[in-house]
Amino acid sequence: MNALPAFGHEPVMIDEVLVALQPRDGGRYVDGTLGAGGYTSAILDTADCRVWAIDRDPDAVAGAAELVEKYAGRLTVIEGRFGNMAEILSRQGIEAVDGIALDLGVSSMQIDDPDRGFSFRNDGPLDMRQGKDGLSASDLVNEADEDVLADIIFKYGEERQARRIARAIVNVRAETPIVRTGQLADIVRNTYRGGRSSKTDPATKTFQAIRIQVNEELDEIERGLRGAEIVLAPGGRLAVVSFHSLEDRIVKEFLRIHSGEVPTVSRHMPAAAQTGPTPRFTLVRRGTQKPTDAETKRNPRSRSARLRVAERTSTPPMTED
Ligand SMILES: C[S@@+](CC[C@H](N)C(=O)[O-])C[C@H]1O[C@@H](n2cnc3c(N)ncnc32)[C@H](O)[C@@H]1O
Repeated sequence: MNALPAFGHEPVMIDEVLVALQPRDGGRYVDGTLGAGGYTSAILDTADCRVWAIDRDPDAVAGAAELVEKYAGRLTVIEGRFGNMAEILSRQGIEAVDGIALDLGVSSMQIDDPDRGFSFRNDGPLDMRQGKDGLSASDLVNEADEDVLADIIFKYGEERQARRIARAIVNVRAETPIVRTGQLADIVRNTYRGGRSSKTDPATKTFQAIRIQVNEELDEIERGLRGAEIVLAPGGRLAVVSFHSLEDRIVKEFLRIHSGEVPTVSRHMPAAAQTGPTPRFTLVRRGTQKPTDAETKRNPRSRSARLRVAERTSTPPMTED
């Protein structure tokens, strides 16, 4: 598993994402993960269309000022979470769009800047907040109960030594607060069984887990997918690039249910009315698409990327109540 995916300056699987979205003149598109603007620029360069680009990271939004100028009148950049895309777009007067791209995970700008606290390779403040708000990684590591920490590291890091690591964290913080990425990485490395023989840094999975928890990343994916169902016009395309199995599992499951592969079960509907699935999406291809060998050679950081693409049908979105 690639625990802390990041990206070169080349946007990951951009050719495949463009094929999926098929940007057309006059079309309206959402880039839910603006980052360095690779997808946004590519969409805007492909057709005379409009893009609404969202990022929760204020640095990404500030960094897009030049793009807003370059694509004057065609690009709107918004600071926010893609989980709120329906509300965000509605505030912009947009009720339906023709395509949505989500490129999940961390940007190279975030991971390469030690001050953002994502990296176990370069020491920095233990932060990891993409949106620069809410609880930081340091808050979590210093305040959560040992059991809670162990569960997070196990569930979101798929780390089998989670209990051991959580215990080591709690032992250290009883003496001194854990406020640097280097401190946390060393705690994990020093407690890890068999770590020295592994090619992967033993801190990898623990850092992934804490990052996912701090940013509520998996909840955001679910909310983003539901938002996409609401805002995509019939025939509109959704393209999601994931970087590890926890992310991809959520996308896969959502599309499986919403493409009618398993029946919809609503406790508000009589069983008799639930005679069959009502697809809200059709799968453009079954399974995932991987980057080409040429791309992984050029940009090794792309190697764990997986793309799923689906097309919205005209069935109204599923309501929660
Ligand atoms: C992998 S990067 C995107 C790179 C981008 N496709 C490009 O070509 O430059 C992911 C970006 O998504 C942002 N992000 C992650 N989760 C988010 C969420 N729930 N809402 C909005 N932005 C999010 C991160 O802050 C980061 O900037």
